[in-house]
Amino acid sequence: IPVEPFELIVFGATGDLARKKILPALWRRFRAGQMPEGARVIGAARTELDTDGWRRMVAEAIGPAEGLDAFLERLAYVTLDATGEAGWPELRAACGAPEVRAVYFSVAPALFAPLAERVRAHGLADGETRVVVEKPFGHDLASARALNAALAAQFSEDQIYRIDHYLGKETVQNLMAVRFGNMLFEPLWNAQYVDHIQITVAEQVGVAGRAEYYDHAGAMRDMVQNHLMQLLCLTAMEPPARFEPGAVRDEKLKVIRALEPPRWLVRGQYGAGQGQAAYVDDVGAPASGTETFVALRAEVGNWRWVGTPFYLRTGKRLSARSSEIAVVFKDTPHSIFGIDAGAHRNILAIQLQPNEGMKLWMTIKEPGPGGMRLLDVPLDMTFAETLGPEAELIADAYERLIMDVIRGNQTLFMRGDEVEAAWAWTDAAIAGFEAAGERPEVYPAGSDGPRGAERMMARDQRLWREIA
Ligand code: BG6
Repeated sequence: IPVEPFELIVFGATGDLARKKILPALWRRFRAGQMPEGARVIGAARTELDTDGWRRMVAEAIGPAEGLDAFLERLAYVTLDATGEAGWPELRAACGAPEVRAVYFSVAPALFAPLAERVRAHGLADGETRVVVEKPFGHDLASARALNAALAAQFSEDQIYRIDHYLGKETVQNLMAVRFGNMLFEPLWNAQYVDHIQITVAEQVGVAGRAEYYDHAGAMRDMVQNHLMQLLCLTAMEPPARFEPGAVRDEKLKVIRALEPPRWLVRGQYGAGQGQAAYVDDVGAPASGTETFVALRAEVGNWRWVGTPFYLRTGKRLSARSSEIAVVFKDTPHSIFGIDAGAHRNILAIQLQPNEGMKLWMTIKEPGPGGMRLLDVPLDMTFAETLGPEAELIADAYERLIMDVIRGNQTLFMRGDEVEAAWAWTDAAIAGFEAAGERPEVYPAGSDGPRGAERMMARDQRLWREIA
């Protein structure tokens, strides 16, 4: 879909996210022909650099590629002070009069308010300008409210694009297509037919390089409040009347508001293992009680879901990088075969990464003359196999989200009230474990997490799916 010529101002242009995600995403969109004549990117940061210096930095981040120079020509850089006045007139002078202007706050949340004020004061924003803000959107409900208020003082809600990059992932959107584009699933998508749902975001990486941020956040704030919460919302929400920002976000908000405080919550922290250092050594804080793993049982208290637990699990330094949403259906009410019927369940497993795709596990007869034996096999829709070379074309989350900003489509961005509701629930859960005062259970790096997570499932007579 073509977009209008745009001007994107990236604050925090020399930072990690800009170099690793935002600029490479823009490059790929450029290569795909989605940066029309006249579209430009202006980087701004405190680092003393000129345009050439920033172009070199970006080129290095992207790596050698044919046609890169033409992309780099679209870039300009201005050194600027987010909390003072230095550099702002220069930034103004570097800007044109584009059809669409977006400003991207790829900076710490403490800078959102001063940036928003200055962007307005220096004539870089009008009623059409779009503001993109990165996570973390606050540290708790109070700070998220303050950020919302600071942004609302300068912009209206329909100008604000709060990023949760999980919403830009292909399979996450595919979940909506599967739920609402097929007749097959929706009638069964409720407590009557679904035994439980498991949402796992397992990572192999540790926290090296982000110690300061992470040690104050922990997995609950870093992953559960945003990414896992969004996955839960899309899985649990009622069908919106239309695939439109207002309708989709209303339905997600209802899910968050229907969430009960977690009945069980297990925290873990990675220790040394498989040649990897322990978390406390990675962050240089021997006494740190920050969790790098969380498993919890969430319940959505409404008619559709009452009695169907949502088990969420996320952690760093686990055995594999693997994220999935698995909908585990109930046993058939009666087995006409008499044999091990309960062992066979339909599972719809939506794999977010790696190997995006979906598997629907079905029970069939084991082929052969051995009598009536049952066998579970997947209907496999791994993207790479089903779509062939087209799977290569799947855009990265940032590519999609940045282009949605330019198009003015807020569907895949979080609304202010949604973020606040998610924090309210998260704060209550954190208050719960802080009051209990227990330290997280240490698990070896490279394992599947702490034993406590398994005990939690065992209590419910269920098992986690394998992390693979
Ligand atoms: C970020 C978290 O939001 O998401 C990181 O701050 C985490 O801690 C990352 O590693 C995971 O993203 P992805 O796309 O690699 O699954």
